[in-house]
Amino acid sequence: MGKVHEATVSAPVNIAVIKYWGKRDSALILPTNSSLSVTLSQDHLSTRTTIRASPDFPADRLWLNGVEEDISASKRLVNSITTARKLREALEEKQRKDGIPAESVVPLSKWSIHVCSENNFPTAAGLASSASGYAALVSALGALYDLPQSTSELSRVARVGSGSACRSMFGGFVAWQAGVADDGNDSLAVQVANRQHWPELQALILVASDRKKAISSTAGMQTTVETSSLFAERVRTVVPQRMEAMKTAIANRDFENFAEITMRDSNQFHAVCLDTYPPISYMNDTSRAIVGLIHAFNAARGRIAAAYTYDAGPNAVIYALKDDMRDLVELFTFCFPREESMLADAFYPDPFGVFALPEEAGQRLTDPAVARLADTAGKYPAGSVRRIIHTEVGDGPRILPASQSLLSDVGMPK
Ligand code: DP6
Repeated sequence: MGKVHEATVSAPVNIAVIKYWGKRDSALILPTNSSLSVTLSQDHLSTRTTIRASPDFPADRLWLNGVEEDISASKRLVNSITTARKLREALEEKQRKDGIPAESVVPLSKWSIHVCSENNFPTAAGLASSASGYAALVSALGALYDLPQSTSELSRVARVGSGSACRSMFGGFVAWQAGVADDGNDSLAVQVANRQHWPELQALILVASDRKKAISSTAGMQTTVETSSLFAERVRTVVPQRMEAMKTAIANRDFENFAEITMRDSNQFHAVCLDTYPPISYMNDTSRAIVGLIHAFNAARGRIAAAYTYDAGPNAVIYALKDDMRDLVELFTFCFPREESMLADAFYPDPFGVFALPEEAGQRLTDPAVARLADTAGKYPAGSVRRIIHTEVGDGPRILPASQSLLSDVGMPK
């Protein structure tokens, strides 16, 4: 058997604190405004992808979480793969021009690929995986094809798969610069600060159960661009100011400003959704109750100690510093008790050892002010929050050893 041409990578999820909402070009996925996000740890949420190229494969094939998908049915998948192939083709051409003997230039750009991709979190968690998915796809193609492009340049390839995916190409704190060029050349992700910059910053994802199927981000934002008059104001004045203020807050590790801008931007994004005609609403009663609890918690603390943010669905993401997490988890597990069928350590796995025992979560309210707050808020129906994922700021895509491959010797899913 000849040399195997294969790469395996993992890539993270990111949660925006300044939201991307609106495209100025839907085919190239060029946004109406810049956005900024925090990359979350791959220990808790990530996509792993293996890609192999072989002259023996008759066609490109893709398996997502064990199920084969038709690549040609997704314009976005085709666009990302074709763009990466063109970069490889250019590299092969350059190698030949540089005098590398033709037989030593591996024509990977001409071969079909097998792509196998898996999330380390259950799809049932209701978390969007397109960002980590496309970041993993493009990082794996970059490694397989040995592409010389920088991570920012490769983020453009992830962007044509799904806008928010370009931000998952970096760890830490990441800006997606909207850019002005018609061809999208300057619409790419840059790292604002790395993961080590602010190690105390952590996140809780409160997975809110939801029966309705939400309007997809892609469709929702298109209608917003076409119908909302508030949206124009957001794009023109609000976001540019917030991008600068947010970068300053991150540079200074200024949690109060970071948190206030995050909450205000989430609120404005959902206000713009409501100003869309017909209106779009992504948050549910549980989401709104969490907003109220966070403001009450901050009032009880006498400072802004926690921030909420919501994407195109009812799940809440809470940002707070490590030292405030115990009280927040006690508050949430008290007010949103787990369903009886859910095991305590599946409901809140406690990866940072906040409690001595998982059963302790929600049993005790240590801080008297938080206890009063919890009493006033009362308990919501069990299962309103399905599970709580506790995580922290994480690194960017990782190239994994061959032992982590998702493909067998013959290049089929293991
Ligand atoms: C609300 O990146 O999913 O999460 O570019 O059409 O694939 P497409 O949209 P997508 O939109 C994400 C919107 C958001 C805000 C954000 O992540 O910035």
